[in-house]
Amino acid sequence: MSTSAPAFEAEGLTKRFGETVALKGIDLAARPGTVLGVLGPNGAGKTTAVRILATLLRADGGRATVGGLDVVRHAERVRRMIGLTGQYASVDEDLTGTENLVLIGELLDLRRKDAKARADALLAEFGLAEAAGRRVKTYSGGMRRRLDLAASMVGRPSVIYLDEPTTGLDPAKRDDVWNMVRAQVADGVTVLLTTQYLEEADALADEISVIDHGKVIAHGTPAELKSVAGGQTILVRPTDPARLEETGAILSAVAGRRAESPGRGVITVPVDGDAAFTEVVGRLAAAGIGVTELSLRLPSLDEVFFTLTGSHTTEEEAA
Ligand SMILES: Nc1ncnc2c1ncn2[C@@H]1O[C@H](COP(=O)(O)OP(=O)(O)OP(=O)(O)O)[C@@H](O)[C@H]1O
Ligand SMILES: [Mg+2]
Repeated sequence: MSTSAPAFEAEGLTKRFGETVALKGIDLAARPGTVLGVLGPNGAGKTTAVRILATLLRADGGRATVGGLDVVRHAERVRRMIGLTGQYASVDEDLTGTENLVLIGELLDLRRKDAKARADALLAEFGLAEAAGRRVKTYSGGMRRRLDLAASMVGRPSVIYLDEPTTGLDPAKRDDVWNMVRAQVADGVTVLLTTQYLEEADALADEISVIDHGKVIAHGTPAELKSVAGGQTILVRPTDPARLEETGAILSAVAGRRAESPGRGVITVPVDGDAAFTEVVGRLAAAGIGVTELSLRLPSLDEVFFTLTGSHTTEEEAA
């Protein structure tokens, strides 16, 4: 593991909005050229932490640095190092793709000619060359997200914050965004990615900080986090959905932990070894419960989250 200084770092950040304590002392950091996934449910404090790291909001306590520079004392210099794609689109609907990016370039003190060249290059890189001259209001959701990402790259940032960059996108568009993020990282950019999607954190992040109610409740690589939920998980889908509860009782009894239903018609439980699997098979057979699915597998990150917090991150998406 590299010993280089973190590309960004937050230590003990606290933030309160009136009665709401949004952050209760959060630590986040990423090594240069890596992706830190910040995973948490609605209201966990993800956007608040990003806004502090992006100099847009002041913490009540703690400190944050980007490239070793304090985000409050050196806000101006920090802004030159970062790119931000917010949770809500930040581009102007009435301008074209090109106009949006040129405008941002000019705000960053690029000369018009250079701003135009940068805009053209980014539009091409993000697959928007053909739509460059169209107003953004005619763009699809996926095109907007790509433009948003391009907008955060105009100033050639070394650190980018992506706040839920794929929420609401269909899987193909999500893949496009993931590939763009990977391309940036391959160029040496450091990424802070907030997400509610475990799959996304798993796909992109080198390390993940799981946050809930303003606190980091777990940190590690995706594989490390998966190991906290126990070694493996048994999943059963009884042929007769009416027997789900009965199936759950069997799983709970064998595993010594409460079985949970992560989606319609299936029930899962973490187990410590494959002996439990054999026993479940025997008990299901003895009870005359037929199954259409029965597996032993590594836990998903959603199960990890459930193990850590007792709640799920998001509703299971319909398959
Ligand atoms: N400007 C604000 N004024 C009052 N409360 C706020 C403000 N911003 C955030 N909060 C509250 O702080 C908490 C954390 O909000 P935050 O937006 O950081 O969560 P989040 O993890 O980004 O959630 P989501 O996944 O829904 O975007 C929430 O309870 C939210 O209602
Ligand atoms: Mg948010």
